[in-house]
Amino acid sequence: MELASARYSVRNYLDRPVEEDKLQYILECGRIAPSAANFQPWHIIVIRDLEMRRKLATTYPRPFFIQAPVVLVICGDHNAGWKRSDQKDHTDIDAAIITDHMTLAAVEQGLGTCWICNFDARQCSEILQLPANIEPIVYLPLGYPGKEPDDRARHLVRKGMSELVHWEKF
Ligand SMILES: Cc1cc2nc3c(=O)[nH]c(=O)nc-3n(C[C@H](O)[C@H](O)[C@H](O)COP(=O)(O)O)c2cc1C
Repeated sequence: MELASARYSVRNYLDRPVEEDKLQYILECGRIAPSAANFQPWHIIVIRDLEMRRKLATTYPRPFFIQAPVVLVICGDHNAGWKRSDQKDHTDIDAAIITDHMTLAAVEQGLGTCWICNFDARQCSEILQLPANIEPIVYLPLGYPGKEPDDRARHLVRKGMSELVHWEKF
C-alpha cells in the first residue's frame, strides 16, 4: 500500500544519474514478475546513451522524456506469449505486469517513472532494430523526480470503490 500510494507519473526528472545497483535491483524486480503460463514473453531494452535517448525522443517528443537518464523499453514477443484457446494473446498483459513491478521497485529506491504508451511504435522498432515479432509496448523513463508536476492532482483522481467493485454480479 505504501509503494502503491507513493507511486505517481513523474514528468520532471533531475539531472542526476541512476546508480547501477538501483537499476539492477529494479530490473530484478521485473525479472521475477508472473506471466501467463510462465512463458515470460518479454524483453527489456535499457537505454542510457544520450544519442540513443535523443533518437528515441523523436518517437515521443515531450520535454520530460529526454530528462530521464534511463529509459526502459519493455517489449513483448508475440511469438512467445501464451494464447488462450480462443487465441487471445496475453503478451500485453505480461508486459504490463513486468512494468508495474518495476514502477513500484523504482519508488522503493527513491526513483520515479512514468508509463508511456503514446509513442510511435513503428519508428521505435526501426530505431531499435526490433524483429517483426517483438513489439515495443511501454517506455519507462527512470530517474530522480524533479519538482512535483502541476498535474499531480490527476494522480489522486480515482473511481470510488462502489463504481469499481461489483459484488457477485455486474
Ligand atoms: C498503459 C498506460 C499508458 C500510459 N501512457 C502515457 C503516455 O503515453 N504519456 C504520459 O504522459 N502518461 C502516460 N500514462 C500515465 C497516465 O496518464 C497516469 O498513470 C494516470 O493519469 C494516473 O496518474 P498517476 O500515474 O500519476 O497516478 C500511461 C499510463 C498507463 C497505465
